[in-house]
Amino acid sequence: MAIPPVSRADFDQYFTPNYAPAPDVLVEGHGSRVVGQSGKEYIDLAAGIAVNVLGHAAPELVAVLEAQASKLWHLSNAYANEPAIALARSLVERTFADRVFLTNSGAEANEAALKLARRWAHDHHGADKYEIVSFNGSFHGRTLFTVSVGGQEAYRTGFGPAIPGIIHVDYNDMDAVGSAVSGRTAAVMMEPVQGEGGLVPADPAFAHRVRELCNANDALLIFDEVQSGVGRTGSLYAYMDMDVTPDILTTAKGIGGGFPIGGMLTTDPVAQSFVIGTHGSTFGGNPLAASVALEVLSIVDDPSFLGEVVRKAGLLRTRLLAIGQSTGAWSEVRGKGLWMGAVLSGDWEGRSKDIAGAGFEAGVMVLRAGANVVRLAPALNIPDEDLEEGLNRLEAAVHSLG
Ligand SMILES: Cc1ncc(COP(=O)(O)O)c(C=O)c1O
Repeated sequence: MAIPPVSRADFDQYFTPNYAPAPDVLVEGHGSRVVGQSGKEYIDLAAGIAVNVLGHAAPELVAVLEAQASKLWHLSNAYANEPAIALARSLVERTFADRVFLTNSGAEANEAALKLARRWAHDHHGADKYEIVSFNGSFHGRTLFTVSVGGQEAYRTGFGPAIPGIIHVDYNDMDAVGSAVSGRTAAVMMEPVQGEGGLVPADPAFAHRVRELCNANDALLIFDEVQSGVGRTGSLYAYMDMDVTPDILTTAKGIGGGFPIGGMLTTDPVAQSFVIGTHGSTFGGNPLAASVALEVLSIVDDPSFLGEVVRKAGLLRTRLLAIGQSTGAWSEVRGKGLWMGAVLSGDWEGRSKDIAGAGFEAGVMVLRAGANVVRLAPALNIPDEDLEEGLNRLEAAVHSLG
């Protein structure tokens, strides 16, 4: 059955009103170019919020998905399947981890990480060790546990009591984290670079201090690499460049290249607290998702691919700084790899939504990270000419508002 005719107005009629998407309905994408119902073509510098690492409809992923689609779609976790086993092994071989739990999204991966940390602390230290230390400005997803741990109060307001036992302190504040972590701490959860919080990187000394505090208090360090992972910063996972290794790492977004999948990675001793029956997911480990993710990892985790990410990141930063100069909208560009935020200043403060809207009008898709940061997270294989053209359109859009 073909999809019956639908319009952008139908979106507002049939969906719960918690989203406000751009005015066109997007129908097809190839590489870093997407076409809307209006017939207009957009350059995608958002990549589905840092998801489509190989662009839209990447031929390698289409081939893998089609092959798996005619073979085996779903079983449940009562039965093992080949793509999921191969994916878990691939993740273990490429990272610090010994074991993997597969999910469908970042929030579910974080939910699993937090539950595992509390269960591990309970098993090894008793019922009083359950506190989670996390950071103001952080984002970990939209389930009740993850909005409770996340450092953005707006996302937990009005949903009844948050999950108890969570302490929020300022990111990169050594003293504050030093007083928050104690013998009652089960885990510290942090993003190596706060993404939704505005592309704020952890100071290297701060990340080391958090690791030391976890060691000293027998608490687990959870790195949320849902947005920073899978090549985004120029290494497979951001921790690999930091000389700090977590006990638990969560991944999602980019790992499926656009197919929904996430995962929680951990060491063998910690994993032992997830004994049979303690946690689960109907779709986690789905063969379609796992086969795509296996292919994404094998393409991205290659020195020449990651080297190109770093080279393109240089182009992105230089051009963003030049746009900031020509428009006066920003002077600071933060972030790493193909993941950068232009920090609005002066009269432009608070206008990221206007800029994203004007960008779409001008034919480029960009993201926001709060009211004050225009965020770019293009496909990791975006052609140089598309990156250049997208940034030209962004510059024109900012000028049109000035
Ligand atoms: C760091 C981080 N963690 C978790 C999430 C939640 O992931 P999902 O939307 O797949 O549940 C996000 C999404 O933006 C994120 O950036």
